[in-house]
Amino acid sequence: MNTQRKIGKGRTAEVFLTAEGCALKLFYPEYPMQAVERELRNARMAVALHIPTPRCYGLVTVQDRAGILYERAAGESLLNRLMRTGDVAGCASTLARLHRQLLAQTLPEDALDVREFLRHEIERNGKLPVEEKSRALAQLAALPGGNALCHGDFHPDNVLMDGERAMVLDWMNLCRGDPISDVAQTWHLLACGPLPPDVPAAQEFEEMRGLLADEYIRRMGMEKERLAQWLPVIKAARFG
Ligand SMILES: Nc1ncnc2c1ncn2[C@@H]1O[C@H](COP(=O)(O)OP(=O)(O)OP(=O)(O)O)[C@@H](O)[C@H]1O
Ligand SMILES: [Mg+2]
Repeated sequence: MNTQRKIGKGRTAEVFLTAEGCALKLFYPEYPMQAVERELRNARMAVALHIPTPRCYGLVTVQDRAGILYERAAGESLLNRLMRTGDVAGCASTLARLHRQLLAQTLPEDALDVREFLRHEIERNGKLPVEEKSRALAQLAALPGGNALCHGDFHPDNVLMDGERAMVLDWMNLCRGDPISDVAQTWHLLACGPLPPDVPAAQEFEEMRGLLADEYIRRMGMEKERLAQWLPVIKAARFG
């Protein structure tokens, strides 16, 4: 398979345009196969729920690297658009509109619970000091459940914009849960999450990210205080 033209790069994978016009998401070497299979299952679930997202065609292997073949979505990422235009309000508004659309969906009881997902991430986080780990696990045990569709990694580089048409990408962390947990995830990613590799003008993003995070929360119609119970747990899960 031709992997000459790279059209994207994230923290888990590179994405190439194939000769057939598909997007091949090729995970970095050693990336666990179980996680790749989970993304495929989740992406298919998102398509079945009629969420605007690329169709997926199945698993492939290229030179010992696992990959998923997706429909290619046209346009540029919302992060790119933000960096090109500096339009913080427009980016926040698009994110909030799409996120409300996702959170209005419910997932069945047998979908992974976001608390279970976070517990696993905290437990396997080798960089988190032991005391902080115990504290975060105790806080997690007191948090509410829910049935809302939680993307788990909803940030502007996981949204592709073709004019005003948006597509949501990257379903690795899909869970069901309290919608506020997912808003807290996005707030955390906007305010202090790591940038994807090779982002041009990273310094400019650093300067606007606080404003973007606050503007996003405002457009979600939510008080930041409501995120407080989830934020320490999310920080612990993503630590390091
Ligand atoms: N189906 C697609 N069509 C067009 N471009 C895509 C497609 N899938 C991914 N991309 C591009 O590749 C980039 C990386 O893809 P993706 O977000 O799936 O990778 P990731 O490593 O899981 O990212 P993250 O750092 O968010 O975990 C996207 O931001 C997007 O620009
Ligand atoms: Mg991504």
